[in-house]
Amino acid sequence: MQDTLSKEIIENRKVNYPIHPLIHNRWSPRSMTGEELSDEELFPLFEAARFAPSSYNAQPWRFLYAKRNTPAWQKFFDLMIDFNKSWTKNAAALVVIVSRNNFEHNDKPAPTHSFDAGAAWMSLALEGTNRGLAVHGMQGFDYELAKKTLEVPDGYTVEAMAAIGKRAPKENLPKEMQEKEFPFDRKPLKDILMEGHFR
Ligand SMILES: Cc1cc2nc3c(=O)[nH]c(=O)nc-3n(C[C@H](O)[C@H](O)[C@H](O)COP(=O)(O)O)c2cc1C
Repeated sequence: MQDTLSKEIIENRKVNYPIHPLIHNRWSPRSMTGEELSDEELFPLFEAARFAPSSYNAQPWRFLYAKRNTPAWQKFFDLMIDFNKSWTKNAAALVVIVSRNNFEHNDKPAPTHSFDAGAAWMSLALEGTNRGLAVHGMQGFDYELAKKTLEVPDGYTVEAMAAIGKRAPKENLPKEMQEKEFPFDRKPLKDILMEGHFR
């Protein structure tokens, strides 16, 4: 359980107001061991995603996944740009996050389907963090190819990919990636928070 801050977070991320250690501890490591994850280890992350909030409780998110050493792995792996392939080759699971564009109850456009899928992704990432796993989102892949090869029907949007795996020391990564294997800081609150109107 993440009730204390990890060493890497203490060294790299300061907060101005206290926040829950689980939120503070989440970051996107790339270094993974290349070990498999069982369904018992992997599925709780999707279970957490299931309980994200969504407009009308429509739950527009869908998660397509492939575990390493299974027939579907290569299909998912081939979607990614070379940079992402170079570190996700040691992931245990690759995930494609998809959302339904229209509500199921009336087939009208659901303005927040992507927003809701983003909330579900964050639940997944936090559950993974709590279990000591690396969970890393990705935009670097071919969206059209994903739609085609994974047979995503019309009316659904491919949102993002994610890699999940057991964490490994940064030395497992190619040299240039090792330098970036730490939790990045953030813009100051004053740059994103606006009282009363946009400025
Ligand atoms: C939707 C999304 C897409 C991302 N795409 C990539 C990617 O293609 N490759 C990569 O190495 N990191 C990717 N990242 C990781 C971000 O660069 C990272 O989340 C950001 O720098 C903040 O760092 P942190 O997650 O460690 O706090 C992505 C993250 C998200 C949420």
